[in-house]
Amino acid sequence: MKVVVTRKFPDSIINPLRDKYEVVMWEYEDKVMPRDLLLQESKDADALLVNLTDDINDELYEQSPKLKVVSTMAVGYDNIDVAGAIERGIKVGHTPNVLTDATADLTFALILASGRRLLEAADVIRRDEWKSWAPFYLTGQEVSHKTIGIIGMGRIGEAVAKRAQGFSMNILYHNRSRKREAEETLHASYVTFDELLERSDYVVLLAPSTPETKKMMGHEQFAKMKKSAVFINTSRGTNVDEEALYEALKTNEIYAAGLDVFDQEPISADHPLLKLPNVTAMPHIGSAALETRMKMAQMARDHIIEGLEGRDLTHEVN
Ligand code: GLV
Repeated sequence: MKVVVTRKFPDSIINPLRDKYEVVMWEYEDKVMPRDLLLQESKDADALLVNLTDDINDELYEQSPKLKVVSTMAVGYDNIDVAGAIERGIKVGHTPNVLTDATADLTFALILASGRRLLEAADVIRRDEWKSWAPFYLTGQEVSHKTIGIIGMGRIGEAVAKRAQGFSMNILYHNRSRKREAEETLHASYVTFDELLERSDYVVLLAPSTPETKKMMGHEQFAKMKKSAVFINTSRGTNVDEEALYEALKTNEIYAAGLDVFDQEPISADHPLLKLPNVTAMPHIGSAALETRMKMAQMARDHIIEGLEGRDLTHEVN
């Protein structure tokens, strides 16, 4: 059986696949496997080990009749046509849980960095512009005791709420369904989307990317936020109308934003959002802790073996 791996992975990850199957692995860790090569190699493939940068769609399924498993090294799977896969009996695996804490840590890092203007402050020193301590120099917004509003109370949302408890924050959340257990254990209060926007000092977007969440944060939503509020996005860039966000930040309708994800990735340095001092931007590194990424790679690899051996995937999307 043949397995196509769309990025270069260490031997320790891939050797267990090589022991059992023919493995075709793209030779770069930092470059997307070209589409035409992916399509060509997939034609007779039994399984694909993919990443969030690969578009796994009908075009690929149609020409890959042997395909049985698509395993992505990510928790999000908006790059994969899951319905199309299920229709064809192709199993889809993803990597939840192992990245929850790392992504919640990065989310909290963005909360602190955006609220307390950490990148701006670090730049001042690097440019040799620090002349004197001053009473109101580089003052930002407090984090402790403020209200955090979490949109999307899944695993990562709950892990962010847990961290917020440590900062004595008042925790609001909005989710498709109520999470009674989180309400009890994390003292989180369920509110409507509008109420969350109106009351939160930190609005944290953690909803998955679906047709319903597309541009769920737009002009109207930013206008409802407090002028002192900070917006954080560690979910998917497609959930935000970036022009509306730019306007809101530029006109001080909101205070700052911390962004790990963008509508089009990678963004370039001339992206308008990067011209704003009140934007803290990261290159989609939510889960980028070495131990976490190794666990994700192992899990994605194991899903291939499970699927090709005809077993259920430990974390199957359905
Ligand atoms: C990263 O964005 C992931 O979905 O794992």
